[in-house]
Amino acid sequence: MRISIIRKGHFNAAHRLFNPDWSEEKNKQIFGICSNPNFHGHNYEMDVKISGELDPESGILMDLKVLKEVIEKNVEQRYDHKNLNMDCPEFVNKIPTAENICIEIHRILKSVLPDHLDVHIRLSETPRNFVEYPA
Ligand code: NI
Repeated sequence: MRISIIRKGHFNAAHRLFNPDWSEEKNKQIFGICSNPNFHGHNYEMDVKISGELDPESGILMDLKVLKEVIEKNVEQRYDHKNLNMDCPEFVNKIPTAENICIEIHRILKSVLPDHLDVHIRLSETPRNFVEYPA
């Protein structure tokens, strides 16, 4: 039987949405105030959903304490109180939109969690705006 567990995570980070191949004007038009030169911050909230076959013997999909530590070590410590554009190599050539951050979190967690578990990330940048990956 397939089942999912979800652990919430959190980090504060700064970013700027800016494509260097575009003019200032086009950046303003596409990204609005999110392209302001001096960066701005968000309180990012994430739901990390792990899915797989339930082990009938233990009744556990994955130890939530282990999942908590994996998220802390690999995502929260990496992004919390960072300037995503300047401090994180993955965003030097990739615009740190909520979409791209969500995809990166998925990539990171997929690489450290056991292969047989599926990972789904829901990332919120504001209480009303969410991104999910995979879609
Ligand atoms: Ni923003």
